[in-house]
Amino acid sequence: MGLLAGKRALITGVANRWSIAYAIAKAFHEQGAHLAFTYQGERVRDEVEKFAAACDGAPVFECDVSSDEHLTRLRDGLAERFGELDTLVHSIAYANKEDLAGRVYQTSREGFRLSLDVSAYSLVALVGALVGSLNDGASIMALTYLGATEIVPNYNLMGIAKAALESEVRYLAYDLGERGIRVNAISAGPLKTASSRQVGGFSNILGVVPKVAPLKRNISAQDVANTAVYLASDLSAAVTADVHFVDSGFHAVGIPPLDLR
Ligand SMILES: NC(=O)c1ccc[n+]([C@@H]2O[C@H](COP(=O)([O-])OP(=O)(O)OC[C@H]3O[C@@H](n4cnc5c(N)ncnc54)[C@H](O)[C@@H]3O)[C@@H](O)[C@H]2O)c1
Repeated sequence: MGLLAGKRALITGVANRWSIAYAIAKAFHEQGAHLAFTYQGERVRDEVEKFAAACDGAPVFECDVSSDEHLTRLRDGLAERFGELDTLVHSIAYANKEDLAGRVYQTSREGFRLSLDVSAYSLVALVGALVGSLNDGASIMALTYLGATEIVPNYNLMGIAKAALESEVRYLAYDLGERGIRVNAISAGPLKTASSRQVGGFSNILGVVPKVAPLKRNISAQDVANTAVYLASDLSAAVTADVHFVDSGFHAVGIPPLDLR
């Protein structure tokens, strides 16, 4: 019997085995949760289907979050093939590479629209589509990053999208609180994934954390997954509208040591 025995979770955002959502799904599975997955498109379909098969044959649904039609199909497919949800994991983000370096004021209208749609509106849209499937007391979580509230050079447009996402977490928590449904964000430290590699100078960020953070190390996807288990479990029953940092304490450092060599 694990911490999530009997819980039913929908996991979005698995693209490959380096995805944060992959580590979360694995941990949920180990803790006894029943899983369902979404995937973005054909490019990642095989990988997600293989993984889902290894998670007790979890059902898999295509869902590009920029498509209202996909969201409706997801809602109907889940109701038909999976049933009610106790947990929803949002682990989705996108920005054009040119918007993850250089000057924020050079961001195009279309680049801004696309990134905010996929990375932030998607949480509102997913919750809107699935609210009828969420059990009272369910837990919703989204992945965010420090660049939402602090300047992280090159994170640029994604920081702006994460600021919107974190605000949504609070407003959705208010909307759903009367049903005991909790909405939180996990602010993860840097991890090497397909998405993070798009951020200009990403390896510099990875190099700074062990020198500056109180715990003197980078985090692992498992660290994030362990926190996700807690947030999905009844142990966090009174935790909502929160941004929880899993970043070795990096976010709390005001003035870093001056010698960073
Ligand atoms: N890697 C990090 O350092 C880090 C740190 C903090 C937060 N995050 C956040 O974690 C989440 C997961 O990212 P990751 O690092 O695991 O990278 P990843 O590339 O493995 O995951 C991103 C996912 O977003 C999905 N996606 C993109 N556009 C989509 C669309 N239109 N419809 C549906 N899905 C779409 C991709 O298919 C992919 O599965 C993101 O929200 C990211 O911003 C990552």
